[in-house]
Amino acid sequence: MTDRYAVVGNPVEHSRSPAIHAMFAEQTGQPVAYERLLAPLDGFEAALRAFAAAGAKGCNITVPFKFEAFALAARRTDRAQLGGAVNTLRFDADGWVGDNTDGAGLVNDIQRNAARPLAGLQVLLVGAGGAAAGVLGSLIAAAPARITVVNRSADKAQALVDSHRQLGVPLQAATLTDAPAAQDVVINATSSSLAGAASPVAEHVLKPGALALDMMYGPKAQPFLDWAAAHGAEPRDGLGMLVEQAAEAFFFWRGVRPDTRPVLRALRATL
Ligand code: ATR
Repeated sequence: MTDRYAVVGNPVEHSRSPAIHAMFAEQTGQPVAYERLLAPLDGFEAALRAFAAAGAKGCNITVPFKFEAFALAARRTDRAQLGGAVNTLRFDADGWVGDNTDGAGLVNDIQRNAARPLAGLQVLLVGAGGAAAGVLGSLIAAAPARITVVNRSADKAQALVDSHRQLGVPLQAATLTDAPAAQDVVINATSSSLAGAASPVAEHVLKPGALALDMMYGPKAQPFLDWAAAHGAEPRDGLGMLVEQAAEAFFFWRGVRPDTRPVLRALRATL
């Protein structure tokens, strides 16, 4: 019997998750079928309940439903609890379990695929919205020397830092213009590219050879990547993070860890 999963969002037609999970299923021999599910903006819960009632085993959740998914989970993993959002649900018989695999996906992409162990590094996280909140706990767990969170609205950066303070890595919040210089890793978790800006922060944040990662991929990420390359950094888009967060979700559902490298290569070739 094939087990059904889906990515649920609005919009969802652009999602690459079905292609990624189809490759994982083929590679691991797991009997997984993975589809796209467009939920009405006011009908997320009903869409999920119908999908689960039809026998589905779980789903990924994308914009704008990650906070609703958090509320609907009967139980949550620690990392989902910390980020306040759920991107993966498993429909267990005794209730839905919510996880958030975005942070582990980002960290695995940086450490394994980009070969930059985060321990001891200076990390700048740009943005304090849902995307940034979802990954900060996992960045902390990788033990960098310091993480600075900067955001257009400085109070949101401060609130995000305050909610993660107890975890043992020095954290600080700042405005975009006060971002510290010479960071080893700069992560763009804003949607500023949608407004046409190349980078929300000035180039002094980049140490020569720094890794500059945008969580987006495709044309939306390009201005930031071009900006990073023009200032001596190594640009990286969000495609690796996408594949790695999917692998974490696959493991959460199936207990089997796919090899992400051939999947990332295949996906990149189609972009
Ligand atoms: P997401 O779930 O993608 O994180 P979000 O929660 O709306 O979406 O957060 C968007 C992020 O992009 C925020 O950090 C936002 O800054 P504010 O908190 O000050 O709004 C940031 N952002 C959006 N447009 C921006 C722009 N033109 N310049 C700089 N930052 C921007």
